[in-house]
Amino acid sequence: MTGKGIHWRAMTTLDLPAVDAIAAVVHPAFPEDIAVFAERLRLYGDGAWLLEIGGAPAGYLLSHPWPAGTMPRLNHLYRMLPAGPQTYYLHDLALLPTARGFGAAAAIVKRALAHARRAGFATASLVAVSGSAPFWERHGFAPAATPELREPLLGYEAAARYMVRGLA
Ligand SMILES: CC(C)(COP(=O)(O)OP(=O)(O)OC[C@H]1O[C@@H](n2cnc3c(N)ncnc32)[C@H](O)[C@@H]1OP(=O)(O)O)[C@@H](O)C(=O)NCCC(=O)NCCS
Repeated sequence: MTGKGIHWRAMTTLDLPAVDAIAAVVHPAFPEDIAVFAERLRLYGDGAWLLEIGGAPAGYLLSHPWPAGTMPRLNHLYRMLPAGPQTYYLHDLALLPTARGFGAAAAIVKRALAHARRAGFATASLVAVSGSAPFWERHGFAPAATPELREPLLGYEAAARYMVRGLA
């Protein structure tokens, strides 16, 4: 990531309206309520980051532990993180179009994976949507053969792919 004016920092509750606005631009097909963003931040603040360019919000990442081999339902409040054998789940990475191509996404993915490794997770996982699977493959993720996830993945989009990588 280049340039002094572009950096990631820990997200706070004050950022939630900006996160909501970015999501509306980047993910119109996957609407989630601001309450869902707020809940993820509350449940796992260590995995919530905001990208700023010249002091203006330009992207975010929400990530958190999650039961391996499953994914959260979209726009659903969970109250607490479910128990079970855990993976580190990258729930939502979204950059405004003007923020793309600077390596900012790569930088925060590396940071989140380093955090997950330090925290002791053996794997990271995500659902790739919007044609982003090649981006995730560049970061070591591979599609997992999970026929049982066919139905829940359809809740995202027909082309959604569950992807996993090891963190050893
Ligand atoms: C996916 C996303 C986060 C990548 O952000 P970015 O700023 O372009 O990523 P980076 O600058 O770190 O990396 C850019 C590199 O990844 C590649 N890349 C980015 N998005 C890609 C995609 N969807 N498919 C394939 N390659 C992609 C670029 O071609 C570029 O390659 P280069 O380094 O050889 O030039 C951003 O495009 C985005 O927010 N997209 C919409 C939301 C989305 O799809 N999120 C992921 C959903 S799971």
